Amino acid sequence: MTQSLAKIEAGQMLTVSWRSLPVFVLNRTKAQLATLPMVDSRLVDPKSTGASADQQPKYAQNEARSIKPEWLVVIGICTHLGCVPDFVPEIKPEPFDPEWKGGFYCPCHKSRYDLAGRVYQGVPAPKNLPVPPYHFIDDSTIQIG
Ligand code: FES
Repeated sequence: MTQSLAKIEAGQMLTVSWRSLPVFVLNRTKAQLATLPMVDSRLVDPKSTGASADQQPKYAQNEARSIKPEWLVVIGICTHLGCVPDFVPEIKPEPFDPEWKGGFYCPCHKSRYDLAGRVYQGVPAPKNLPVPPYHFIDDSTIQIG
């Protein structure tokens, strides 16, 4: 499927359906991107080379888990038991710890992912959120699948 990115403003996320799966398309701000290396030490597999090596195409196996740094494209299905995580971009008090830099929070069993869909340590989800195959058709259009 093709998806226009033109109306997704910086900091905004759109959920689209691909093969009956929710796909999160997030336009990350520079400030959000800057949080990624800050949380590496608290993640299960920050480089996606261990347990999550199979969770993205090779071209998205990088810190931002994306082709273009600002655009995150992930399947919005928790890798624990399949709930749909909430997008929680801002720092919030409990149940999030003070070090929370934003990302995705699964309400079913409290798994947390950062703004690249990388799973935090100490939660039930074992892997990073999957990145589907996708590519850019032009600057503001992606093809998913
Ligand atoms: Fe997400 Fe269990 S399904 S934490």
